[in-house]
Amino acid sequence: MKNIARKTLDEFIIERQEDFKYSTGELSRLLNSILLAARVVSYKVNKAGLVDILGAVGTTNVQGEDQKKLDVYANDVFIQTLVNREIVCGIASEENDNFITIQGLDEGHNNKYVVLMDPLDGSSNIEVNVSVGTIFSIYRRISPIGSPVTMEDFLQPGVNQVAAGYILYGTSTMIVYTTGRGVNGFTLNPAIGSFYLSHPDMRCSKNAKTYSINEGNYVHFPQGVKDYIKYCQEEKDERPYTARYIGSLVSDCHRNLITGGIYLYPSTHKAPKGKLRLLYECNPMAFITEQAGGSATDGRNRILELQPTELHQRTPFYCGSANMVEKLKDFIAQADEKETKK
Ligand code: AHG
Ligand code: MN
Ligand code: MN
Repeated sequence: MKNIARKTLDEFIIERQEDFKYSTGELSRLLNSILLAARVVSYKVNKAGLVDILGAVGTTNVQGEDQKKLDVYANDVFIQTLVNREIVCGIASEENDNFITIQGLDEGHNNKYVVLMDPLDGSSNIEVNVSVGTIFSIYRRISPIGSPVTMEDFLQPGVNQVAAGYILYGTSTMIVYTTGRGVNGFTLNPAIGSFYLSHPDMRCSKNAKTYSINEGNYVHFPQGVKDYIKYCQEEKDERPYTARYIGSLVSDCHRNLITGGIYLYPSTHKAPKGKLRLLYECNPMAFITEQAGGSATDGRNRILELQPTELHQRTPFYCGSANMVEKLKDFIAQADEKETKK
């Protein structure tokens, strides 16, 4: 069997130190801390079914969603790892109402980065042994170093991201991340605990034929999205396209990143602002997708340019191969135009 793994992630980070241009090693240490937590969560996810980690805890998060045991476990592991290593000055998580301020033991609040995360994405897939993920987004703080973090450190537009990535706990565990100079993917060798560069310089294919949407909500979608779905299903040229929907943003976007495609989570009558969270789901996935040559929009605006006003803000989200996203935006603009003429 050919061994395609070229180098470890540690070697890659050292080799690409210029990616961390503002850094004194702080960002690479932060990425290493995230990887450590990812290995712990990966180990636990792989044992789900054998240990008592499946099922609900009986609590809900600030967004009213039921928390699963693995949601809470992953959240604790990532937070504890980052807190113990005093590597960031603040953390915001899907599972916590408010952001966490980290006080260094000796140096006060001297770290310059904040992390925002979805510790376990696609929780509803855990019970049925389908891929889940972790999403993270890293910003340089705005408030002065040495003081406690403030809300403005977290409410930054996605264009300010210093790094973003996801971990996919799938048939193998992978990390895919960007520091704004392309996207690279690494696969975990569980026997050794090292991540190896398996997907160098990932590019979102332009020759895309896959659309990913929870079509069960069709009747609740805006007209432009309904029109686009019908376009995808029409028998013409390269169409109909293929539909693929796992129900875990990380897994769906990862597939689309590799094979090309569009992921859609529109506003619905039930959720007029959409379901996905801007800060720790959409912005990091948008940054990665754009860095791979794709694009991400809320239907009208570039995701990365939206100015957040709340920590758990939601947004409609369309992300993937640039030509498919452009086509969708045309359908939405046409529907808007018809609406204003009425
Ligand atoms: P989370 O498990 O972090 O709450 O996220 C679930 C999200 C996302 O991963 C997925 O794409 C979407 O919810 C699926 O929603 P539907 O079940 O409504 O299709
Ligand atoms: Mn999620
Ligand atoms: Mn989650």
